Amino acid sequence: MSTNNPPSPGAGDGAAKPGYLPSIEELTRLANEMFSTPPGTEQVSGIPFDTGTGIPTGSSSGAPYKVPHSAAASPHPKSMAPSGAPFGVPYGTPSSAAAASDPKSVMPSAAPPGSYYTVPYSAAAQALRIPVLGAELPYADTFTGLSLPIPRELRAPAGKSPFYFLDEAMPFGGGARTGQIPAIASAHPAFDANAVRRDFPILKELVNGRPLIWLDNAATTQKPQSVIDRLSYFYQHENSNIHRAAHELAARATDAYEESREKVRRFLNAPSADEIIFVRGTTEAINLVAQSWGRQNVNEGDEVVITWLEHHANIVPWQTLCNEKGAKLRVAPVDDDGQILLDEYQKLLGSRTKLVSFSQVSNALGTVTPARQMIEMAHRVGARVLVDGAQSVSHMRVDMQQLDCDWFAFSGHKVFGPTGIGALFGKSDLLNTSPPWQGGGNMIQNVTFEKTTYHGTPARFEAGTGNIADAVGLGAAIDYVERIGIDNINRYEHDLMAYATRGLNTVPGLRLIGTAPDKAGVLSFALKGFATEEVGDALNREGIAVRAGHHCAQPILRHFGHESTVRPSLALYNTYADVDTLIAALHRLQGGRYNF
Ligand code: ALA
Repeated sequence: MSTNNPPSPGAGDGAAKPGYLPSIEELTRLANEMFSTPPGTEQVSGIPFDTGTGIPTGSSSGAPYKVPHSAAASPHPKSMAPSGAPFGVPYGTPSSAAAASDPKSVMPSAAPPGSYYTVPYSAAAQALRIPVLGAELPYADTFTGLSLPIPRELRAPAGKSPFYFLDEAMPFGGGARTGQIPAIASAHPAFDANAVRRDFPILKELVNGRPLIWLDNAATTQKPQSVIDRLSYFYQHENSNIHRAAHELAARATDAYEESREKVRRFLNAPSADEIIFVRGTTEAINLVAQSWGRQNVNEGDEVVITWLEHHANIVPWQTLCNEKGAKLRVAPVDDDGQILLDEYQKLLGSRTKLVSFSQVSNALGTVTPARQMIEMAHRVGARVLVDGAQSVSHMRVDMQQLDCDWFAFSGHKVFGPTGIGALFGKSDLLNTSPPWQGGGNMIQNVTFEKTTYHGTPARFEAGTGNIADAVGLGAAIDYVERIGIDNINRYEHDLMAYATRGLNTVPGLRLIGTAPDKAGVLSFALKGFATEEVGDALNREGIAVRAGHHCAQPILRHFGHESTVRPSLALYNTYADVDTLIAALHRLQGGRYNF
């Protein structure tokens, strides 16, 4: 058995042992208890399951499965289990804080081999009578769940070597990892921002004696307890380099890392996990494409098209490339609301256009660009398209197969994950024909002093030891977002954005910069009579964090006649009360009655 399964607590006493990890047998028992048919169940079509145990069987026959009545309104089926999945994942989405303490309210779901069991703390604790990870379950009344690794014996794909996690034994993307998991339509509980807030311990901080109001989400988002715990768990139980050794921790770390890649794939609905490259963040992803594909394919006389909305990270790498190659950087203009002028964009596209690169959501204005249409227009002239998703992924569903972009980049820290990790999606034919941009360990097939051959994607772009733990943390962040439901988040934030816009428009002398009808996350403004830093400082004194500055997007702010703006930006844990406090503070500031 795996050494990741310490002995059970003392028989019959349910003894709490710090750091104790439930065994697979206990989890099996837990699942059986949780999913035995309770009174008042009803059937929901979707995931086939074993009616005896309630555990999804992996058949795709569409047979119904039973869910507890109390949770029937909030199913969270995540994925189908390929046959041979060791065990259905008890994946928790309590429909209310009260239900969170009831294991029977936890929804069954399924996952492919190598997945993690995810159970709410409270359910696991109640059923197993242990403090999970030795903690005293401080967030037992929240949606937060905990992922517990499945022992390696049960993770190994059928028929594979016990050393399947070594790249020599099973290259990336081999075997089970490439299996596509059909998405299942899901419904979610009504959105409750106050419940969500309890998942984010930092939101309990006081700043200048006031409860923190975090409205700097476009710069970075806060982290739920489940992400913090996942990182801690990794370092306590799994830490190792990956794809490099035949020992237990190498297996755990490699599995955890590759499972996160699969989570990113699912999050983006990319066709294959091989098309997901872990990078430091959006900036590194764009630089990778510019230095790899760009240097190979952009030549003198070619054109690269961006837009006025871009962050410096989506300007500078292309400017550098164009200067080096003698190519031309062309910029699609925007209207007075901050929307791309599609007619003008169309005029820039032609036979010389090698690449179009634009953001799905502007970090400075919040404009949502018509990405699908712009990609289609670029493809019509044979150009490749990169979409900067740094500001979109936490606010809206993104789908690589629907967008059909050639590359898509995002940063983990803007979607409730750790800093220093992000992902680049790229179509596999492009990735496999683009040269590596960094050389080093793990990206090679063979090295002699005369010649080196490289792995295919994704290994060819992941030279050296990567940010393994934070990649795993990003997977936990994606789990978190999926548990809440990105469509729920999108609907809630849309209403909150409309409310905040109305509120800001009541403040005398306030000019909103960026008034497109379709916006996400960001409200940028200037306040007459105040430098942006003064506004930022005044709000900080009330415990409100906003960004005041140029937002690394100087061209677009200058287009609107400003060097900087004040930028409150929203996330799923912001409430109407947060917005009220912001608006009241701005009114006080503008009215000269601000109490310093
Ligand atoms: N790109 C981040 C922002 O917009 C840092 O604030």
